[in-house]
Amino acid sequence: MELTDAITGRRAVRDYSPAPVDEATIRRLIAAAALAPSAVNEQPWVFTVVRNRGLLDRMSVAAKAHMRTRPPAGASPQPSRSMLDDATFHIFYHAPVLIVVSAASPSPWIVEDCTLAAENLMLAAYAAGLGSCWIGLAQSYCNTEDGKAALGLAATATAVAPIIVGHPNAPSPATPRHPPEIRWLD
Ligand SMILES: Cc1cc2nc3c(=O)[nH]c(=O)nc-3n(C[C@H](O)[C@H](O)[C@H](O)COP(=O)(O)O)c2cc1C
Repeated sequence: MELTDAITGRRAVRDYSPAPVDEATIRRLIAAAALAPSAVNEQPWVFTVVRNRGLLDRMSVAAKAHMRTRPPAGASPQPSRSMLDDATFHIFYHAPVLIVVSAASPSPWIVEDCTLAAENLMLAAYAAGLGSCWIGLAQSYCNTEDGKAALGLAATATAVAPIIVGHPNAPSPATPRHPPEIRWLD
């Protein structure tokens, strides 16, 4: 697939079939993510792949509860209270795979580095015929003691990008974009 086709065609997907994503494909997505640039080539990323449906369900419940009680000040998208109170709302949209891009230890550029890796991963997923979506609503929970324990992350780790991946049930509509503000200083 042409790069521009992937950039223009990728969408946040929120409706998945229960079909699993095979391990070889997941490894290909992670290989693409690991080709991202990183500051001083530190490559701080660690990829935690969660395929256990029971664990994903438990994390969804826990992340919603966390957001209800301790919404981060401006750090994450603010969900409506009704979404968080809705027992049927699954924070991971029942996707079969969650890949959490994290860094094992603090360093000045881990957010930038892991975010670049996450974008590569989402574009590679689209090129492989899969859907993906960054789940910012789960980010704060992933960095709690409970969240790190669920993910098997060390206390020193920082979870940056929780990305769900799976087979879309239907194509997602395009979301509008503002024309980019460009300032030419000739
Ligand atoms: C940092 C970040 C956090 C996001 N968090 C969520 C989320 O918690 N839940 C969700 O459904 N979508 C989430 N999204 C997806 C955005 O809503 C989506 O990318 C945006 O609406 C543009 O749509 P598009 O990706 O289809 O172009 C997130 C995206 C980013 C980049």
